[in-house]
Amino acid sequence: MTKLEKIVSWAKRRGFIIPGSEIYGGLGGVYDFGPYGLALKNNIKRLWWKTFVEDRDDIVGIESAILMNRAVWQASGHETSFNDELVECKKCNKRFKADDKPEEKCQKGGEHEFTKPKSFNTMFKTADTYLRPETAQGMFTDFKQVLEVSRQKIPFGVAQIGKSFRNEINTKDFLFRVREFEIAEIEYFVKKGDDDKAFGEWLKLWEEFILSTGIKKENLKHYEHPKEALSHYSKKTVDINYNYPFGWKELTGLANRTDFDLKAHMEKSGQDLNYFDPETNEKYIPYVIEPTLGIERLMLAIICDAFEEVKPRTKTTEATTGKEVILHFSPKLAPIKVAVLPLTKKLSKEAKEVYSELKKCYSDIEYDESGSIGRRYRRQDEIGTPFCVTIDFETLKDKKVTIRDRDTMKQERAKINKIAEMIK
Ligand code: GAP
Repeated sequence: MTKLEKIVSWAKRRGFIIPGSEIYGGLGGVYDFGPYGLALKNNIKRLWWKTFVEDRDDIVGIESAILMNRAVWQASGHETSFNDELVECKKCNKRFKADDKPEEKCQKGGEHEFTKPKSFNTMFKTADTYLRPETAQGMFTDFKQVLEVSRQKIPFGVAQIGKSFRNEINTKDFLFRVREFEIAEIEYFVKKGDDDKAFGEWLKLWEEFILSTGIKKENLKHYEHPKEALSHYSKKTVDINYNYPFGWKELTGLANRTDFDLKAHMEKSGQDLNYFDPETNEKYIPYVIEPTLGIERLMLAIICDAFEEVKPRTKTTEATTGKEVILHFSPKLAPIKVAVLPLTKKLSKEAKEVYSELKKCYSDIEYDESGSIGRRYRRQDEIGTPFCVTIDFETLKDKKVTIRDRDTMKQERAKINKIAEMIK
C-alpha cells in the first residue's frame, strides 16, 4: 500500500473523511467529513480566522453568496478564461486534462489516440449563472460597502472562508483535487507602488501560518509561476508547494492581482469603485495582494505530515503483529484534546467525575471505557489525541491520575485538581 492509500483507509476507518454519497457508489471528487474530520477542519479554519481576522485590526471578515450574478464572471474574466485544456481518448472514451500526462492514465496503453486539446471551462453552470470557483469576487463586488462600514484605510484587507466549486476534468489524489472544497482567502488592498513590498511581507506571513499548523518546514518550498503561465489576472504568483506522498504540489498561492478585478467590475457595473484617500485627496483603484488557501489541501498536508506508522508500542491483549498508527497533530488542531480512560469499568464512577470536571474547561474531550486500556490508547493515538488521562485503583487512595503524552508515551501522575491546568 502507498502512503496515500494508507491515509485514505485510515481516514475512512476513523471517520475523518468518507466518500460523498457512498451508499450509491459515490460521486467523483466529492467527500464528506465525519465527526473527527469536521472537528479537525473547523480547528484549521478557526486558527486561520483568528490569525488573520481576529488578531489583526486591518482585516475584516465577510461571507458573500456562493451564487453571484453572471455579470460578475463575465467581468472577472472567468467566463472566457477559467479553462483547462481537455483531450479525449478515442479508444477508451475517457477525458483527461491535457497537461496531466494522459498517456499514463489512458486504459488502452500504447494504443491510445487522443483528440486535439480543446478549452474546457471548469465553472459549474447553473440555470442562470455559475457556482463560484473562488470566493474572491464577493470581496471585490462588496469592496465599497465593506470599506464604508468598516472605516478602514488603505492598506487593509477583506477575508472570507467559503465553499467553492470546480468542474475538474479529472479529480485525483484524495482531497487534493476535488470538485467541492473550501477556500480561505484575503484580498489585501494596497496603493499601486506598495504592491511588491506587500507581496514579500504576505509571503512570509502566509508561510508562517502554514508552519503554525505543525507542518515541517522541510516539506514546504516556493514555486514562482513563469510569466507565460500566470492566471489572466495576475502580475506575479508564488505558490507554496507541499511534499505530498504523490509529489511536490501546490498547497497554497499568493498572487498580485493588480487593479484587474476592481477595474473590470467598475467598467462592467458602471459603479465607482475608486478609493478616496482623505489625507492626500487622491482617488485611485487599489492594487490587490491575494493570499489564497484550499482548506482541504491544507488538511491533507497536515494529515500527511502527522501520519506515522510505528512498530507496536502499546501492550494490547490482542496479537500485535501489525503496525500502529499515530497522528502527531498539533494539540491546537487535534479533534480531541484529552481522553479520559478508567483502567477498568469498576472505576467508571470516579472516571466520569474527572471527565465532568475537565469538560468544564475543554469541550473537545472524550470518555472511553470499552476494551483493554492498551487498545483504547491505540485508538486515541490513531485519532491524534495528545493526552490521555487514566484513572486507576491508586486514584481512589491518592486522588491522582496518570497523564500520558501521545508522542513520548511519558506518563506523569498528577493531582486531579491540577490536570486541567497541566494540560493547558
Ligand atoms: N482566488 C484565487 C484562486 O482561487 P487558485 O489557485 O485557483 O486561486 C486557490 O485556488 C486555492 O484553492 C489553491 O491554492 C488550492 O489550495 C485550492 N484548490 C484549487 N483547486 C482545487 C481543487 N480542485 N481541489 C481542492 N483544492 C483546490
